[in-house]
Parts: sequence; structure tokens; C-alpha cells
Amino acid sequence: MYRRLIVPGAIAASLLLAIPASAADFEPGASGIGDPYYPTYGNGGYDVSHYDLRLKYQPKTDLLEGTATIIATSTQDLSRFDLDLGLAVSEVRVNGKKARFARSGEQELEVTPVSGLPKGSSFSVVVKYAGKPSELKLWGFTSPQRTPDGAVFANEPESAAWWFPSNDHPLDKATYDISVAVPDGTQAISNGTLQSQSSKLGWTRFNWRSSHPQATYLATLAVGKFDITTDKTADGLPVLNAYSKDLGANEGAAKASVERTVEVAEWLESIYGKYPFEALGGYVPNVPSGFALETQTRPFYSPKQFANGANVSVVVHELAHQWYGDSVSVKNWKDIWINEGFARYSQWLWSEKEGEGTAQELADYVYAQHPADDAFWTVKPGDPGAENQFAGAVYDRGALAIQALRNEVGEKKFFAILKGWPQQHAYGNAEVSDFVAYAEKVSGKKLAPLFDTWLYQPVKPGAPALSAAAG
Ligand code: ARG
Ligand code: ZN
Repeated sequence: MYRRLIVPGAIAASLLLAIPASAADFEPGASGIGDPYYPTYGNGGYDVSHYDLRLKYQPKTDLLEGTATIIATSTQDLSRFDLDLGLAVSEVRVNGKKARFARSGEQELEVTPVSGLPKGSSFSVVVKYAGKPSELKLWGFTSPQRTPDGAVFANEPESAAWWFPSNDHPLDKATYDISVAVPDGTQAISNGTLQSQSSKLGWTRFNWRSSHPQATYLATLAVGKFDITTDKTADGLPVLNAYSKDLGANEGAAKASVERTVEVAEWLESIYGKYPFEALGGYVPNVPSGFALETQTRPFYSPKQFANGANVSVVVHELAHQWYGDSVSVKNWKDIWINEGFARYSQWLWSEKEGEGTAQELADYVYAQHPADDAFWTVKPGDPGAENQFAGAVYDRGALAIQALRNEVGEKKFFAILKGWPQQHAYGNAEVSDFVAYAEKVSGKKLAPLFDTWLYQPVKPGAPALSAAAG
């Protein structure tokens, strides 16, 4: 398309004739984006800029039917490319023309357009698909959670292939329009702003838009019967929270926590700078699982997070991820510390503010809690391995590293680093070494040895490494 626009017609036609789709220099895109922990995640050869999902979900049968339209640009001369999707596909079109498609493994869909896509061309892909998502077993075991009144699509490091075709890796972020029809009386909750909703023929359609770059695992969908509260922030951003009508005894505590989203976000803004997205909120579906997730603009919270009363700390954690994780995302999953270390440290800062223990006190406590022979210290937060991606040490030892940094560079430089980093890489991707380099630049200090001690050695650092006298 691009060539045809800039080259006079006759030459363009001869070029197209001279370079047939299967020309030797047109090659298939890789079946993975190159993540060392997860070689099959994502794909090579193209970059997605936008996903438009038009879906319909019936909770009674778990049937999801959809059409996904993907706008992408080829990054090589592309004869074929992969998408990641577990559900059954009935038709694929590339630039409007029917394309051949085949399965390769459970979540790999190989698409062969009728003609090759020259490097740099913008192209569209339309995928029609259907299936029962909760019957999937992707990557050996994962599937969305069904609830008594719906289903929830939220997980890390993967979840997108349960419900839409994508380049499923944080390195390829895009904007989203997510339109979902559900039976009247049921709601569909997703990311960003609810543009509109309307009902016909027994189905209510919810149209959501997420207008900043968003990683695939941060796209979410929850179908069920919810109590919804809406508001606007002082800056005019829409706030929408959703609570399953079936939270039982946890309902009060869930609301007493998630209703503080705006207050928490404003406090985080004072530390990390302006909130990076166009909307805020949270949702609490009636799922059996216990985790929470920083789904963009609208975190997911398990009701179990609120089993002991209000838990504002988890709201702090998931909202801190909006800066550390969602706006600035990992380049590869081995970089998980740039997400979880800082989300946990944000909880320590909240505790400090609330008078429930300073970050230093919590660091000393965590340090003392794990003796030198505890397996805790064998996990390297800077490169924990796929099996330890969400190990406690990534969070707690990861936060110790941040406390050690604070002691090393002093309050002024420390908070300048915390606020500067989300600006430096806003809406992009970064890795651990980028953070080390940035902290060195802002502080004017050589910090590689400190980070090596806390992030990369499989042993317990000596106690002085944590104290203000260190360095
Ligand atoms: N980023 C999430 C959090 O820190 C962790 C989710 C872990 N995934 C899981 N399926 N348990 O809140
Ligand atoms: Zn987290």
C-alpha cells in the first residue's frame, strides 16, 4: 500500500509484478517475539497499533463469538505471520482479502496473506472466531475464570489468547476499542472509558475505549452482574468501579477499599507525577482465585483481597503499577522487578504515610524475617527465571533493593528518580539495566555494585548494605 502511494502507477505495478508474494526475500515472521523466558509469546515481523474487538458472550453456555480487526505495520518483508489465539477461527482476511490460516500448537495461528507485505506497510487483519474460553488450556493449563454470572479474563503474564488474537507480549503495545454484547441485565467491564451502551434484541452492548498504548496482558474483560459507581476526578477523568452483586460478606470491605481509588491515585501523583491514563477505577468480580492485577486504568481485585476488612494497600499496589508496569512496561518478562519491586515499595511508602511503619522499618523487618539459609535469598529479583517470576522475593527483596537505593542516594535524589523514571519511558518499555543507568545519571553515583548485590546475587546481602551508613 505504502509503495503504491509514493511510486507512480506504472512503476509500482511493475514492482509488484517483479516481487511476487513468495519472493525469496519475503520470509515468515518469527513465531515468538524473542522473550528469553517465554520463547513462544508474541510474534515477529509486525507491530500492532490498534485492536478493535467486537464480541458477544453468553454466560449460560460460555460461548464467546468475535470479530477482531487488527491494524499493524510490517517490520520485515513478510510472507506469513503468526497471531496468538486459543479459540477456533473461521475466517481471516488481510487487507480485505481472504487469507490462508493454520494452527501451529494450541495458541499459534499462522496467517498467509495472498500477497507478501513489504517492510513498512500498514495492513489490516480481520479474524472471525468463536469458542468456549474456559475450556481452553493454553500454555499447558491456563484458562479464564467462569463465575456464577459470567467470566473474567485477567492474568499475567498471559491472558489475551483466551479471548482475542494478538501479538501477545508487552513489547507490542496498542490502543483498543472493545465492544461486548451480553444478555440484558448483565454487564461487560473492560479498560478505559465506557463510550456508550445500548440494548436491542435481548442483548446489551458495552463499548469501551482504551486510548493509550496498552500491553496485551493488561487488556481485560469481566462479564457478570455488577453494582457500578461512577464519578469524575478533579482533573475531569471518568472514574468507574464495578463490584459483583455476589460478593457476600466481602462486599463492604471491597467497596471501602476500591472507593478510595481517586484518593490513592492523587497521592501517587505526588510521588510519581501525573497519572498516565484517561480513566480510573477498579473491579471486583466473584472469582475463586485470590490475586489482583493491574489491568490498565481498571485493576482487577479478587474478593479474597478484602476478606479481612478494607485493604487499601492492594489498591496502592495496583495503582502504582499504572506508572510502573503499565505506562513503563517490561521489555522482557525477566525485567519483572521494574514492575513488582516498585509496586511493593509503593505499599511501604503508603504505610510510612499512614504511620504504620516506615519503609526503612519494613525493610529491616523483611530482612530479619529471612535467615541467610532461607531459599528467599536464592531468587534473583533482577532475573528470577520464569518459575519464580512472581516469587515473594521479586516483591520483597525487590523492595529492599529500592530501600538500599534510597539510603545510598538520599531523599532528594531518590524521589527525583522515582518521579523521573515514569516520564523517561512513558508509554514505552524498559529493562532493569535502563533503571540502573537512569538512577546513576540522576544521582551522579556509581550504583551498579549496589544493584548487583540486591538484584543479582543468590545470597543474603550483609546487613550494612541496607543501612543509611552504607556506601
Ligand atoms: N502483577 C500482579 C500483582 O502484583 C501479579 C499477578 C500474578 N499472576 C497470577 N496469576 N497470580 O498484583
Ligand atoms: Zn504487582
